[in-house]
Amino acid sequence: MAVKKAKISRPPKKKGQWEDHYTRKARDEKYPARSVYKLQEIQRKFTLIKKGAKVLDLGCSPGSWLLYAAELTGGSGHVTGIDLKPVTVKLPSHAEALVGDILALTPELEEAFSSGFSAVISDMAPATTGMKDVDAARSLELCEMALTVALERLTPGGHFVCKIFQGGDFDAYVTHVKGHFRQVKIFKPESCRKQSKEIYVIGIGRKE
Ligand SMILES: C[S@@+](CC[C@H](N)C(=O)[O-])C[C@H]1O[C@@H](n2cnc3c(N)ncnc32)[C@H](O)[C@@H]1O
Repeated sequence: MAVKKAKISRPPKKKGQWEDHYTRKARDEKYPARSVYKLQEIQRKFTLIKKGAKVLDLGCSPGSWLLYAAELTGGSGHVTGIDLKPVTVKLPSHAEALVGDILALTPELEEAFSSGFSAVISDMAPATTGMKDVDAARSLELCEMALTVALERLTPGGHFVCKIFQGGDFDAYVTHVKGHFRQVKIFKPESCRKQSKEIYVIGIGRKE
């Protein structure tokens, strides 16, 4: 008599987060995180990263955006990432990952990515508490800093991508970004988890 195999379901990766199609796809395509598909959707819609571009990736660990951005720029471009945590995946020679806190930049880090970027992309997220207001306020702090860093380093016409957890000050943040870019789009990629409050603010064409 054939023995019926018990169906084993995978344990959740994080409380409430079951492995999904994008997680499996990322593993198959050798990216360290499913977040790569968010940047891929943004790129397909807005074409912000061109061959030869110099890109700054804020909150780059574990390295999916870094790898994907480096594919887009090719070897004639360069991608610099920064994160509190190190990136352990192997990067191509035209990509690098620095360890540091964007909210407390040292002179050495400031020097390491001083200027001349055609795109600044931020997928930074605070450690979440589950308290929506607290998480949104911490996300906003990172977004304000990402904008400051971007405005100091983007070349005229350069682009900005910033993940934000929507909260009470979301509209004020969008207005702030609108003051510095020719167009601003709000975009929620399909690959964002449905229950997530995250959304991307996209500044296209830094004003001179
Ligand atoms: C969602 S993950 C980024 C995933 C990444 N885009 C990828 O595709 O691999 C968010 C990252 O933001 C980083 N982060 C949070 N606060 C930061 C800060 N103050 N400075 C630098 N990185 C920060 C976290 O350490 C975390 O690795």
